[in-house]
Amino acid sequence: MAGMTTTMPGNAAPDRGTAHDQDTTEEPAFLRACRRQPVPHTPVWFMRQAGRSLPEYREIRAGIPMLESCRRPDLVTEITLQPVRRHGVDAAILFSDIVVPVAAAGVDLDIVPGTGPVVAEPVRTHADVERIRQITVDDVSYVAEAVRLLVAELGNTPLIGFAGAPFTLASYLVEGGPSRTHAKTKALMYGDPDLWHALCGRLADITLEFLRVQVAAGVGAVQLFDSWAGALSAADYRTYVQPHSTRVLGGLADAGVPRIHFGVGTAELLPAMAQAGADVVGVDWRTPLDVATGRIGADKAVQGNLDPCVLFAPWPVVETEVRRILAEGRATPGHVFNLGHGVLPETDPDVLTRVVDLVHQASAR
Ligand code: CP3
Repeated sequence: MAGMTTTMPGNAAPDRGTAHDQDTTEEPAFLRACRRQPVPHTPVWFMRQAGRSLPEYREIRAGIPMLESCRRPDLVTEITLQPVRRHGVDAAILFSDIVVPVAAAGVDLDIVPGTGPVVAEPVRTHADVERIRQITVDDVSYVAEAVRLLVAELGNTPLIGFAGAPFTLASYLVEGGPSRTHAKTKALMYGDPDLWHALCGRLADITLEFLRVQVAAGVGAVQLFDSWAGALSAADYRTYVQPHSTRVLGGLADAGVPRIHFGVGTAELLPAMAQAGADVVGVDWRTPLDVATGRIGADKAVQGNLDPCVLFAPWPVVETEVRRILAEGRATPGHVFNLGHGVLPETDPDVLTRVVDLVHQASAR
């Protein structure tokens, strides 16, 4: 597969280059927005921009299991670059998955197409927690290698590294798979707080090390995904979750890269998620960005928050919503445009490209 990162096979999408590859001295708009500095335009990227919405992704992934593709630096590099070439987004996000470091820590799991992560033996006891060992850089050397390849290919476009937050990882490990109610997770959390904190403490160790490996290899920012934290009340979030996420984000305070903290359904949790040590707080579509800024405080940037389902609406609706979000994002000097959650597989990628162009044009200063 040599040369795969520079040449596109078959149904190549036109290479739109990167948003500002003409000027390689200027600090990228994405990093400037994360730091709440003036920007030439509002930067935009999409959670799950690499994935099944892209025909070139479906082609290259054909017959290769998800976890295997995450462990092949050549594939990771190509898949990460696909949406950057196609859409001209302001940042790339490493192609990986939140369960990659947990699998590297010895947990028997798989990512099942159409379902998500499935864990063979869900965590029930202290002995189960002790079997999850801390990872070292050698356990995830393929990630470091992919980051190095990507940083070389991306030029001035920043690469975002990421990890799952302790609560969201714990939810998969305790449930054994995806869950709507998180009932088993909450039963363990309320019923055996010692075990809960032991599990989340171990997951925080793994997550922090995984992010440090990515930073050392050259990512320009990190995002901590606590996708399912919105299942908790603010009080329970502060008691059971915030200390562990604070340890992860706090452990990166001196890393020199912006830290984005994201969750879904987190309207009530936004202040606590900001206090956990974020530079940028991800907001889903349920909370307008100006309202979110009021809750978070103007000393943080915000990221979001187009409803991914709006991308299925007629273009005039999409345009109205994008312009509304840009206007609400002006409540803070730091706005990174994104969806409120990931790109759905059925999304027309051409609409995503149009959104990128609209964000850039409508926000040009
Ligand atoms: O954003 C990106 O482009 C980077 C790639 C990325 C993936 N997973 C690739 C992936 C990221 C950032 C993730 C994080 C992730 N994984 C989260 C947090 C973000 C979120 O969406 O809330 C969660 C909860 C997971 C767990 C997970 N992995 C789920 C729910 C699924 C989808 C299952 C399915 O088939 O619908 C996965 C698999 C997965 N991770 C896919 C991709 C592109 C789909 C695999 C495929 O193409 O077959």
